[in-house]
Amino acid sequence: MNQLGTGISIIGCGSAAPATSLDNQALTHIVETSDEWIASRTGIRERRVASPQESLAQLATEASKNALEMAKIEPQELDLIILATSSADDLFGSAGLIQAKLGATRAVAFDMTAACSGFVFGLVTASQFIRTGTYRNILLIGADILSRWVDWKDRRTCILFGDGAGAVVLQASEKDNLLGFELRSDGAGYHNLQLAYQPQPYEIIPGVDVSQGGYNRITMNGQEIYRFAVKKVPEVIEKALFRANLTSDQIDWLIMHQANQRILDAVAQRMKIEPEKVISNLAHHGNTSAASIPLALDQAVREGKIKAGDVIATAGFGAGLSWGAAIFEWG
Ligand code: UT7
Repeated sequence: MNQLGTGISIIGCGSAAPATSLDNQALTHIVETSDEWIASRTGIRERRVASPQESLAQLATEASKNALEMAKIEPQELDLIILATSSADDLFGSAGLIQAKLGATRAVAFDMTAACSGFVFGLVTASQFIRTGTYRNILLIGADILSRWVDWKDRRTCILFGDGAGAVVLQASEKDNLLGFELRSDGAGYHNLQLAYQPQPYEIIPGVDVSQGGYNRITMNGQEIYRFAVKKVPEVIEKALFRANLTSDQIDWLIMHQANQRILDAVAQRMKIEPEKVISNLAHHGNTSAASIPLALDQAVREGKIKAGDVIATAGFGAGLSWGAAIFEWG
């Protein structure tokens, strides 16, 4: 029991995905692949893709409204909005626009980037503001539109990603439901997964050059990322469990970043977590980057799978390289 009211409860969730679905069969028209290959190697059967008219801010706002409704919180009660994303509509950030769209007039809003670990890193970041007694009500959004940045001619990556948004509302409470966490980075593996800026020299005046380039498409060493995930994710969940004073058999649900069904299965197997406890929406959404964990959480809560009091282990991993886990009690 936390007498100061600086414990953390996660009291609402919401999600949104674009209406357009692209199934594996459709991808066979643009790259040499098959439904059989994609489904057996990744578990993915279809993914949602945003149209040029759909913005990240729109998707994120829809997810946020659903989360606020479940939490029974008015937008004006929010103190802080954190948008975890790698594909903001605007490099200066999209959180401010979401704040305006929601009418969350009291809230300060900012973006943060930690690729597919963004939601877990955001959860821990948000919780620090509550722990210190600074803020009471926080909206955390994970949203990405990676279809904008995928190389649709590269069969090793274009089959993986989908677009979406998920959000949760965190609130200060007496009981602390964020039981433990662990975050890690290793920039030595940075080159294995990138959405990198490509410099293009531009001479402003003779002798003064700047760069006026653009961003490249996503590049990935899939095998390296696979090995990294299967090795590091169980370690980081174990560490977070240790901090929570729990063991893996006390977890009700495992919600990992949805990257590949084989990664979910391998991590669960290593940790001796029963397959029924592993939440997966990969078949229908693919890898939605920062959105994947809150999207899967929201679907499982609304399906009635996850109930108040359930202990959830969540883990994100990806570019950076970055990875992290958090253990929390739902509701
Ligand atoms: O959010 C960040 C996270 N990203 C990830 O978690 C990705 C982690 N990595 C993976 O999920 C897997 O490495 C992939 C799904 C990307 C690839 O699966 P894999 O079992 O590691 O395949 P591979 O890269 O070893 O490729 C095996 C073969 C190759 O052919 P050869 O060289 O053996 O003739 C590839 O060229 O499969 C080929 N291949 C494909 N074939 C049909 C690669 N992509 C495809 C494809 N369709 N889409």
